[in-house]
Amino acid sequence: MENIKSYVQQNKDRFINELIELLKIPSISADSAYSQDVLNTADAIKESLLKAGCDKVEICETPGYPIVYGEKIIDTNLPTVLVYGHYDVQPADPINLWDSPPFEPVIKTTEKHPDGAIFARGACDDKGQMYMHVKALEYMTVNDKLPCNVKFMIEGEEEIGSSSLAWFVERNQEKLSNDVILISDTGMISNSQPSITTGLRGLSYVEVEVTGPNRDLHSGLYGGAVANPINILAKMIASLHDENNHITIPGFYDNVEELSLEERSEMAKAPFSLEAYKKALNIEDVYGEKGYTTNERNSIRPTLDVNGIWGGYTGEGAKTVIASKAYAKISMRLVPNQDNLNITELFTKHFESIAPKAVKVKVTPHHGGQGYVTPIDNIGYQAANKAYTESFGVPAIPQRSGGSIPIVALFEKELKSKTILMGFGLDSDAIHSPNEHFGIFNYLKGIETIPLFYKYFTEMSK
Ligand code: BES
Ligand code: MN
Ligand code: MN
Repeated sequence: MENIKSYVQQNKDRFINELIELLKIPSISADSAYSQDVLNTADAIKESLLKAGCDKVEICETPGYPIVYGEKIIDTNLPTVLVYGHYDVQPADPINLWDSPPFEPVIKTTEKHPDGAIFARGACDDKGQMYMHVKALEYMTVNDKLPCNVKFMIEGEEEIGSSSLAWFVERNQEKLSNDVILISDTGMISNSQPSITTGLRGLSYVEVEVTGPNRDLHSGLYGGAVANPINILAKMIASLHDENNHITIPGFYDNVEELSLEERSEMAKAPFSLEAYKKALNIEDVYGEKGYTTNERNSIRPTLDVNGIWGGYTGEGAKTVIASKAYAKISMRLVPNQDNLNITELFTKHFESIAPKAVKVKVTPHHGGQGYVTPIDNIGYQAANKAYTESFGVPAIPQRSGGSIPIVALFEKELKSKTILMGFGLDSDAIHSPNEHFGIFNYLKGIETIPLFYKYFTEMSK
C-alpha cells in the first residue's frame, strides 16, 4: 500500500481546498440562528461521501439535527468498520479574540505546525478529523484498496450532548452493526510521537441558581442585613474543594478506581515537559489535587469546575445593588466507574444541604455521559498501533484523555463493540477556543494512516 503517500501528495491541494469549503459553513449546533447552516453541512457531507465511493448515503431524520449515514459493503463475510464523527461545531465567541474570522479559513504556520495549519472553527474538532476519513475512503475506493466493509455515521449534535444520536443508535442496531468503531475526535502527544486515546472522562453538567430577596435591593439600605446571593454562591462554590483540592461532595469518590503504582509509573513514561506546559499557558505554576501529577489530574482523576458565573450588575461604571439571583454553570469530569446520573444527584443533594436558610437554591441538570476506557489487548488497538508505527515510524503510546465523547459508552452498550480513538489533533490546536486550527501535516498524516488501519484490522480479523 505504499502509494497512499503518493496519492496524498498528488491530491493534497484538493484535499485542503475541500476541507476549507466545509469549514466555511458555520454549523453551530448550540445556536438556532445557524440551523440552516447545520442542515446544509449535513448535505455537504452526504455529497462528499457519495463522491468518495459510498454505495448508499442517507440523511436520517431524528428529533434534532439529522445523522448522515453512508456505507460501502463489499462482502458481508468481511469485517465492518463503523466510522463516527461530528459535523457540528462549537460557537465561535468571543469573536474579537480571533486573529481571522472563524468561518473564513486561512493557512498560517505556527511553532507546532511549521508546515502550516488551517485556522477556522471546527478545523480540528471535528470537521478536519472527520474529513480525513472521507478522503481515506476515496483513496481506498479509487485504488481498489478497500479491504473490508465500511459504514459512516456523522452526527450534528455532538457539541450539545448527542441526544438525537442516542435515539438513533437505540433504534438502528442492525443497520449499525460492526466489528469495530473508529473515531478521530481526540488528540495525540506531538507530531513526532503519536498516541492512541484509551480513555475518555464522563461528564455531569449542572446549572445552579441561588435566590435571595424577591427583588434587586439598594446595597446601602439592605446591605449587611440580607443574604447576598452572589456572596453566598461564591462561598458555596469555594467549599466544594478542600485545602488539598479534593472535592467535598459526600460519596463523590466512591466509585473512583485508583490506579496501581505500576499503572501510574507506566503513564509517567509518556513524554511531557511541565516547563513547556506552563510556558504555553503563561502560568507560574500548575494547580490541582494533592498527590497527583498534572497528567494524572487531567485524565484519571475527576474534577469540578465552574464554567460560567453571573448575576448582579456587570455593566459600565458602578451600580450599588444586591441582586436577587446569582447563577453558575458547573461541570464535573468523571472517571469511568462514576455514574453521571448518580453524581448529578449527589451534587444536587449536597448543594441544597450547604445553602443557608437565607437563600433558595435550584439545580438544573444539563447533558452528561459516562466515561470510557478500552483495553489495549484487542485487535482494534493493535491494528491502530501498527498503522501509526508504519506511517510515523514510531509506535503509538496509549494515553487516557481528559475530554469527553459521551456517546462512546453508549456505543459499547448498544452496539457491543469497541471504539478505537485515532486522534490526530494537538492539545495546542485550540479546540473550543479562539483561533482553533488543525495542522496540514496532521490532516495529511491522518489520511495516510487510516487506510493502514483498515488493512491491518482486516488481516488481524482472519
Ligand atoms: N472532540 C471533543 C472531545 C475531546 C477532545 C476528547 C480532545 C479528547 C480530546 C468533543 O467534541 C467535545 O468537545 N466534547 C465535550 C463534551 C460534549 C458533551 C459537549 C467536552 O469534552 O467538553
Ligand atoms: Mn469533537
Ligand atoms: Mn468539541
